[in-house]
Amino acid sequence: MNIAIITGASSGLGREYARLLAAESGLDELWLIARRQDRLEKLKAELPLPSRLLVCDLTDTAVFTAIQQQLMAVKGIEIRWLINAAGFGRIGTCAEIGVETTGRMIDLNCRAAVAMTQLAIPFMSAGAHILEICSCAAFQPIPYLTAYAASKAFLLSYSRGLGRELAAQGIEITAVCPYWIRDTEFITRAIETDHSGIFQGFPLACTQHEVASRSLRAARNHIRVCTPDMVSFLHRILTSCIPHSWLIHLSELYRRLA
Ligand SMILES: NC(=O)c1ccc[n+]([C@@H]2O[C@H](COP(=O)([O-])OP(=O)(O)OC[C@H]3O[C@@H](n4cnc5c(N)ncnc54)[C@H](OP(=O)(O)O)[C@@H]3O)[C@@H](O)[C@H]2O)c1
Repeated sequence: MNIAIITGASSGLGREYARLLAAESGLDELWLIARRQDRLEKLKAELPLPSRLLVCDLTDTAVFTAIQQQLMAVKGIEIRWLINAAGFGRIGTCAEIGVETTGRMIDLNCRAAVAMTQLAIPFMSAGAHILEICSCAAFQPIPYLTAYAASKAFLLSYSRGLGRELAAQGIEITAVCPYWIRDTEFITRAIETDHSGIFQGFPLACTQHEVASRSLRAARNHIRVCTPDMVSFLHRILTSCIPHSWLIHLSELYRRLA
């Protein structure tokens, strides 16, 4: 049985990946992961492919053993796609965001993505794809998005290193690094801690459909780091030429002008 596993499938990018993959042939089932069961049920009802719902909080480390056991219980299971889209960010000073929220952010954006990736690999073979949803925030340190940007830098680096390790098995990892996406729940939640309006407006933000469809295409074309929109593409070029100490000043300037 060929399956795709998508975390963060109850909204935004994860839900869009589920819709796009369900419309393709070659998969027998989607495994959809998030905390909000009602949202997952609603998505399941609209998909043309059978779905298994795994309702869980990925910051609870006990869930990884449970997911692994579910995989082992299905004879001949093959994971063709793993998409780690569950993630969140918060804007504000480190004090405003707080230690507890920052810890959860690191647990979800880093630890859960790594755990899901490593538990999936034994069920994958040549031609399987892993998409780690990073962000162009991964390309440089960003004040007031400090922990979020650092968590995505970790995931980008992890993807690139592991991609090399897995090349011999024919399993491919694509790190997806978009700029702001305007039609998911991410921004609304991220600004909850932005008490001083540090980030005003999100000019040139792209859409979840653009990011999901372009990154699936990039993965099929063996692209290791996908910048699915013009801003993230230019950001990647800029951050590869300019020292990080200068980039921090430039990002502050951009934030004030935007
Ligand atoms: N939107 C942007 O501007 C933007 C830009 C660059 C990168 N990204 C990245 O894109 C990814 C998808 O974000 P999005 O924009 O689609 O945001 P979103 O609409 O808020 O979706 C986030 C998803 O993560 C799930 N999730 C959150 N906490 C979870 C937990 N503890 N356990 C399990 N699932 C959890 C949410 O489901 P439940 O609440 O139901 O659990 C939801 O399905 C994230 O990794 C984000 O960092 C977003």
